[in-house]
Amino acid sequence: MDNVTKLEPRISAADLTSRKNTTPIVALTAYTTPMAQRLDAHADLLLVGDSLAMVIYGLETTVGITLDTMIAHGRAVVRGSQKSCVIIDMPAGTYEDSPEQAVESARRVIDETGAQGVKLEGGVAIAGQIAAIVEAGIPVLGHIGLLPQKVTKAGGFRIQGRDDEGYLNILDDAWAVTNAGAFAVVIEGTVEILAREVTGTIPIPTIGIGASVACDGQILVTDDMLGLFSDFTPKFVKRFGDLGTAVETAVEAYATDVRARRFPENQHVYQLEKSVEVAS
Ligand code: KIV
Repeated sequence: MDNVTKLEPRISAADLTSRKNTTPIVALTAYTTPMAQRLDAHADLLLVGDSLAMVIYGLETTVGITLDTMIAHGRAVVRGSQKSCVIIDMPAGTYEDSPEQAVESARRVIDETGAQGVKLEGGVAIAGQIAAIVEAGIPVLGHIGLLPQKVTKAGGFRIQGRDDEGYLNILDDAWAVTNAGAFAVVIEGTVEILAREVTGTIPIPTIGIGASVACDGQILVTDDMLGLFSDFTPKFVKRFGDLGTAVETAVEAYATDVRARRFPENQHVYQLEKSVEVAS
């Protein structure tokens, strides 16, 4: 029998574009190798989101994380995955100034991580940047609606598109991102009717987060859906697990055993004679 493990080929950005109006795209954030290893079999897209600024580094918003940090986590996630399309967020301050700045940052991300593409926040305002990165041969995932990198300016994490002006602006953003060549677009924090209209009109897949089931796929911050990050839980997050409680229960048991000198037990201890088999 052939004992060579056949690896599934990695999903490309183009593969995801062709998923428009077919099976919903499953996307999750990942920041580390062990988490990427666990998510890879189940997800189509792993996003190394700049949400790691809040989730991993304890910052108040996503602003303040550097390109070097995103690259370090991007490498970890590429290393930990084989099948999923890995996309890396371009952090605030690394692409807004000009298309040239955007291409230079995106090139670094791809060259230094081996990821399949990058994500930028914004629509009309950064269409030139998206077009330039795509022209340089790097797939771009758009991000419209609620833009976490702008939260301080927009007055907090607020649902977008509820008034006429906001609604029309998001429609314009969706078309700007599409026409600039993005392979898909994240729509965050907006009303269902708008997510449905955008999804029904643009030819690229929409990946929703707080944007209803009308989208062509869904993304969640993994630590939110696992109950690992509880500083702030938006209405759109469904808890699919409670790992936060599992961690606390396990750590409490460890502390109790250490204090009672019940850990380590014989099987965890090395002796001069090899009386106990130790796992490598
Ligand atoms: O940074 C992030 O995790 C994101 C998702 C919320 C889409 O942009």
